[in-house]
Amino acid sequence: MRMKAVSSLVPGELLAQPVFGKSGQILLQKHVELTSSYIRKLENYGHTYVFIEDPRTEDIEVSDALSQELQAEVLIKIERTFKKIQKSFEDPTYTRDIRLGDTFQELFGLLFDHVLKNQVVLTHLTSLYTSDNFLYSHCMNVSLYAGAIAVGNGYSESRVKELGVGAMLHDIGKLAIDKSILDKPGRLTDEERTLVEQHCQIGYDLLIQQPSIHSLSAHCALQHHERMNGKGYPRRLKGMEIHEFGRIMAVADVYDALTSNRVYRKAFLPHEAVEMLYAGSGVDFDPEFIRLFVKHVNVYPPGVPVVLNGIFEGVVVRNNPQNLLRPVVRILRESGRDVEPYDIDLSVCLHMVISNVIQSTVS
Ligand SMILES: [Fe+2]
Repeated sequence: MRMKAVSSLVPGELLAQPVFGKSGQILLQKHVELTSSYIRKLENYGHTYVFIEDPRTEDIEVSDALSQELQAEVLIKIERTFKKIQKSFEDPTYTRDIRLGDTFQELFGLLFDHVLKNQVVLTHLTSLYTSDNFLYSHCMNVSLYAGAIAVGNGYSESRVKELGVGAMLHDIGKLAIDKSILDKPGRLTDEERTLVEQHCQIGYDLLIQQPSIHSLSAHCALQHHERMNGKGYPRRLKGMEIHEFGRIMAVADVYDALTSNRVYRKAFLPHEAVEMLYAGSGVDFDPEFIRLFVKHVNVYPPGVPVVLNGIFEGVVVRNNPQNLLRPVVRILRESGRDVEPYDIDLSVCLHMVISNVIQSTVS
């Protein structure tokens, strides 16, 4: 099976995995033959890509992916809780009704089983929907990435959970900030930037009052924008003054922000985002946590369509465990024409580079 952009689906193709709606209901069953109206339905429901059957890629398995059902469940619960918190910022008495600790411990618990079982988490598979609100999927993705780094770092289960819960809630302070400023396409004014930067402190103040939230989880909100060189915010902490959780959060948060489409720019490719992390190694980010991120987050999982050197269109077949950024790719098309499929190992063919991903022209 392979992943294909919904925008390039054609009637007659078969779904290789069921597709879920945003409230967790099955929208289309596995093996369903796609029709024009089904494809429209997928677009209307905000799906960006699905898995299809293809005899040329039938040996590609993506069975350890985080299930779409679980993603939908987690996203719905994040959305529901965040909406309540948003109200609480308008009416402070409302906060008392929200048991953030219990809700998010349960939510991260669902994801944690996946992280622990696989040791490596997959990207792409965590963003199957174009969410109406970037914040919900961002919080889920960041908790998966931070969880993978934490497991790789040898943390105990309870410590991974403290970090994971903090990661899910790290941007909660943004709910108090006007969305038109957060999504502003142009440069922020100094005044607007000061306002946005307050989300760390606002989030911390909210979380630290919650009885079942560990204070280290609250520190994920407070410190995720601190940078190794002391040029971060809110407290301009330097190097090891930043708690380990804050240093892990910085890597996970920036990677997800870079690889997501935003109103003001297109997403970067996964390896471009990783290169940007490396560029900030020791300056912005702790090198050890970049190393663990690259080892435990698979940015090119099997089934993902990629383009090599601008002309070779194919699908990731399997990963080289020693270098997840250079997988084996099955080429299906060259310069826009179908070819007899063949595999290229990017860990050996160093002149070949991934130049695009989720390319809608692969058919
Ligand atoms: Fe943030």
